[in-house]
Amino acid sequence: MILIDGKKEAANLREELRKEVSRLKTIYNKVPGLTVILIGDLTPSQIYVRNKEKSAKEVGLKSEVIKYPDSVDEKTILDKIDKLNKDETVSGILVQLPLPKHINKKKVIEAIIPEKDVDGFHPVNVGNLSSGYESSVPCTPLGCYLLIKKVEPNLSGKKAVVIGRSNLNGKPMTQLLLKENCTVTITHSKTKDLKGECLQGDIVVAAVGIPELVKGDWIKKNSIVIDVGINKTEKGIVGDVAFEEVSKIAKAITPVPGGVGPMTIACLLKNTIECFKRSQS
Ligand code: GUN
Repeated sequence: MILIDGKKEAANLREELRKEVSRLKTIYNKVPGLTVILIGDLTPSQIYVRNKEKSAKEVGLKSEVIKYPDSVDEKTILDKIDKLNKDETVSGILVQLPLPKHINKKKVIEAIIPEKDVDGFHPVNVGNLSSGYESSVPCTPLGCYLLIKKVEPNLSGKKAVVIGRSNLNGKPMTQLLLKENCTVTITHSKTKDLKGECLQGDIVVAAVGIPELVKGDWIKKNSIVIDVGINKTEKGIVGDVAFEEVSKIAKAITPVPGGVGPMTIACLLKNTIECFKRSQS
């Protein structure tokens, strides 16, 4: 059984990106810049944003975090995004989700120009990804994709089962696997025979947010299992996959924590660098 080491893969990717940033610096005499907007004081968001900032600096990006209180009005945020859109030193803009209720998520996502949308959430990027054109790809599914490709470089003809249909994970994950010529089944909370569907998968990506939903007898022998879940339970943080059972059956599996999580941030840096490069060409 291969325990997919997301921490190690993310460190390798960051090292590659660090070299790339230094190469770009010699060519353009400037480095890509990432600006993160954080609204309110939700602890998980603060931790994510701190980690993003630390990693961005580590690879040599220009990194900026702009913080607002929970009470900030929507117009202030939209005006700020407008300024950042026009700021040449900013290659990528990310507004940390979730947002306070009085701020419209759709408006915020659509305010960031697609060229600086490092999350890949703007409808133009979503459309480009599904049409097979160049686009920013949401960081978590991109991280999952890179981990899968490490284990199995040729995915053509493989059966992939994605559990979860969110814009953040399930849908873009599906597009990435389709591009690799997988036969993809998207499942979700209303799927009739989830176990039966999972048993078909050479690759199973679980992104539903249900603690340890995927059991050992849901998984085909020699499959690759990617666990996107981060669920708080009485026994601590667990994924969407019952790790102990599934790791006895699968060929390769990501742990939680230390699997997909570290790759997500590394992919954000990768997207920022790619936005910068597209802006220079
Ligand atoms: N909150 C949790 N994950 C994400 C993400 O990938 N992007 C943004 N903007 N907010 C998040």
